[in-house]
Amino acid sequence: HIVPVLLCGGSGTRLWPLSRKSYPKQFAQLLGDETLFQQAARRFVPAQGTDAPEAPVFDAPLVVTGSDFRFIVVEQLQQIGLDPGAVLIEPEGRNTAPAVLTAAYYLLARDPQAIMLVAPSDHAIPDPAAFRAAVGRGLSAVRNGRIVTFGITPDRAETGYGYLELAAAPDDAGAVDLVRFVEKPDAEAARAMLASGNFLWNAGIFLARAADMVQAFHTHAPEVVEPVSAALKSATADLGFLRLDPRAYAKVPSISVDYAVMEKAGNLAVVPFSDGWSDLGGWDAVWRAQDPDEQGVALSGPAHAIGCRDSLLRAESDAQVLIGIGLDNIIAIAMPDAVLVARKDRAQDVKLAVDLLRRQQ
Ligand code: GDD
Ligand code: MG
Repeated sequence: HIVPVLLCGGSGTRLWPLSRKSYPKQFAQLLGDETLFQQAARRFVPAQGTDAPEAPVFDAPLVVTGSDFRFIVVEQLQQIGLDPGAVLIEPEGRNTAPAVLTAAYYLLARDPQAIMLVAPSDHAIPDPAAFRAAVGRGLSAVRNGRIVTFGITPDRAETGYGYLELAAAPDDAGAVDLVRFVEKPDAEAARAMLASGNFLWNAGIFLARAADMVQAFHTHAPEVVEPVSAALKSATADLGFLRLDPRAYAKVPSISVDYAVMEKAGNLAVVPFSDGWSDLGGWDAVWRAQDPDEQGVALSGPAHAIGCRDSLLRAESDAQVLIGIGLDNIIAIAMPDAVLVARKDRAQDVKLAVDLLRRQQ
């Protein structure tokens, strides 16, 4: 059995104004009928008839999130008929490394053989059954003590992702060992890695035995181990949630699992995955994932485009119509209380809007 560990504590500022501090992108309906978090949870529920008999079996998810989101998490799981296995609450966000280690300790205490699948909740994976099959292909490497990553064929010199250098050409059989993991390279390094043809993008999903994950933290990120263990030791059970001790957690360094562990670990392997994946990190990614028409126009809600190209128009309320005329390379997002209009090639700068609003508060 594999326990999905759903990380959903991020703030998603580049998707403002749909993503808000109290209601970040993972809990919003960005694509399709379900929220990204619901899609992430459903991704690890095998579908009868779609999955091969040898597909892996998943337990109920373990959710790691912030205090503000604990009720949203339970409500959204219940809406799709899923029961949260457990919800671990971080008193404040400390990025992904502490969240992953907390989950690993929690699972290890309950089952020394536990296998965890760390999964972000800000992705679109259009063919979940294919992804579950890929997870199955990683299991034998996991049983050999590897931490398995999932590799996406890169199509641009993206600087917002991790890059995986393969030790050998990938085949369909299973995981390939990694030579190197490079998190968020600068533009020049990203171009060189893309050109070499020897790298895949890190999908941000990790499969490992909880025991091996804990070991990797002990070896490579001891500064995270001590305060996280302390926060777990004095955690309190609260209405079915396990709340980490705020005083101990305040001492936890803020660092991502990619920098803390993955860049340093020598026991990584990768299962290539080529059936569709995107990180919905910014509006440009949403535009791409929304299948724009031949003119490059993507619409959602009561939005219309007249003579537009390469643009995304989203009206998030049925009570408000959005019309674009002659737009090119534009993102327009209309919420009842806020409207964003930006050049699409500056989608990454949307976080500046959030900074500006914060300063004005
Ligand atoms: N519980 C919890 N607590 N979750 C968090 C926290 C936290 O403090 N911070 C972030 N998360 C969640 C986010 O909600 C998201 O679902 C996931 O962890 C990943 O965090 P991101 O901040 O979105 O990471 P990233 O996209 O910059 O980079 C990672 O993903 C890329 C692919 O999407 C890395 O693993 C890259 O190497 C990878 O290429
Ligand atoms: Mg992300």
